[in-house]
Amino acid sequence: MENKMMPNVETVPQEISRRNFLGKFGIYSFLAYLGGSAMATLRFLFPNVLYEPTTTFRAGYPDEYSVGSVSTKWMKEHRVWIVRTQKGIYALLGRCTHLGCTPNWFDAERRFKCPCHGSNFDVEGNVIAGPAPTPLLRAQVSLTDDGEILIDKGRLENKINKREGKGFLLTV
Ligand code: FES
Repeated sequence: MENKMMPNVETVPQEISRRNFLGKFGIYSFLAYLGGSAMATLRFLFPNVLYEPTTTFRAGYPDEYSVGSVSTKWMKEHRVWIVRTQKGIYALLGRCTHLGCTPNWFDAERRFKCPCHGSNFDVEGNVIAGPAPTPLLRAQVSLTDDGEILIDKGRLENKINKREGKGFLLTV
């Protein structure tokens, strides 16, 4: 016979005791801590590295550049002019030494002119007018094993006695 005074066990909502609650809270907190620690550890496997483009590029063969020419072929892609004079081949970086603007080459005047504050440079990169404090920088030039010109913009020089030496002037 069913006791009408006793409630059915299945219909009574289960109360969570304080001990039960604190126990579950502790377990979930610990799991959250472990998860956070694991994520932090995984993050170390992927360090904050800035992958910059390489500083070197192949600029073709020396006979592609005639004596007396200033080639703008690599300006857009690499910001470098390849210049060939009687002395040899060098690579001028297209960055004004005043505040870093990109000068333009004017073949008729044989000058690089900076549009920002008017600095002018001769074909060697020397300052001939304007506020630029030093000559244009030259990038390192060398030949690959198969005879192609290799430019390295990671190595720059503009001191007159050094830029005419090995590494910054290709005598071919
Ligand atoms: Fe070239 Fe100022 S940045 S003159």
